[in-house]
Amino acid sequence: MTEILVTGASGFVGSRLFRTLVADGHSVTGTFATHEARIPTVKGHAQCVQLDLEDDASIERAFRASWPEVVVHTAAMSELRACESDPDRAQRVNVAASEKLARIAAAFGSRFILLSTDQVFDGARGNYSENDEPSPIHVYGRTKLDAEVAVRRAHPAALVLRLALVYGASPSGARTPNEQVVTQIRSGGRPKLFSDEYRSPVLVDDVVRAIVELLTDKTTTLLHLGGPDRIARVEFGRQVAAAYGLDPGAIDAVRLADSDLVPKRPPDLSFDTGRARSCLRYPPRSVAEGIAALVAGTAGAEPG
Ligand SMILES: NC(=O)c1ccc[n+]([C@@H]2O[C@H](COP(=O)([O-])OP(=O)(O)OC[C@H]3O[C@@H](n4cnc5c(N)ncnc54)[C@H](OP(=O)(O)O)[C@@H]3O)[C@@H](O)[C@H]2O)c1
Repeated sequence: MTEILVTGASGFVGSRLFRTLVADGHSVTGTFATHEARIPTVKGHAQCVQLDLEDDASIERAFRASWPEVVVHTAAMSELRACESDPDRAQRVNVAASEKLARIAAAFGSRFILLSTDQVFDGARGNYSENDEPSPIHVYGRTKLDAEVAVRRAHPAALVLRLALVYGASPSGARTPNEQVVTQIRSGGRPKLFSDEYRSPVLVDDVVRAIVELLTDKTTTLLHLGGPDRIARVEFGRQVAAAYGLDPGAIDAVRLADSDLVPKRPPDLSFDTGRARSCLRYPPRSVAEGIAALVAGTAGAEPG
């Protein structure tokens, strides 16, 4: 049994991770900021503590509640528009707090895993590997890249996991790209999705599986975690619709190049996932496999 601190256990990725780690028999402390009820109720060694990443004393309290062997830091200000409209807060939550937590973890001798993002790239080229130079174009991407640098400075052995677009089932039922498509079409709406924005979507259950593999594996310091497909957002949405028995034609293709979205979105954030495929026993599934598993309710099952 490993003592693990999962920050952001009320979030999309953190809640799935929390559930899996407790089910695997670990002793897990999960943090929330405002949504305690979104932390899964599970039998086992588990506790929930409130955490305010803008408050150093709160970060120290969360650490002391757990004295963890491993910290998986998923909590973040993850909404692009919120970061853009309050960059100072995004800096405090995403950068300063990550550095503080990593420093405490290093002093205590805990392994530290930071969840970062494909949004550290500008999206001009795509197929990004761990060797490519990041150059973020919005506040969210910049703060996540700054967090990577700050965490590495504070804890040189930390693992940074850059996630591609993550899909799956969220605690709110409204967080993920697949949930948004299904909800909008079922309520008679016509989702508009970009035909010229490319990602390498990854199923949340595959992200969790990778983190479980990497809990104690100290060989990797940076890993791109995405699925094997480079796929346009509109094509992803249409595959989701079809798999759920909905009309893919209800989704309208629009062009990112013609949009005035603020902040601007990087056009191609697809990942080269060669390193993940070579170092993980169960590399992420394709979009077709992932969506089929979601529909069948087998996404979280053990690989055969
Ligand atoms: N989802 C994706 O597609 C994706 C892609 C790439 C990278 N990532 C990265 O993966 C990680 C998890 O993302 P996610 O989608 O699971 O995020 P999420 O669903 O938005 O969850 C964010 C979590 O952070 C907590 N949090 C937010 N502000 C906080 C604060 N000031 N103090 C303490 N806790 C705070 C939230 O708590 P409450 O809800 O209780 O307020 C929640 O538990 C993030 O680091 C994100 O950058 C996600």
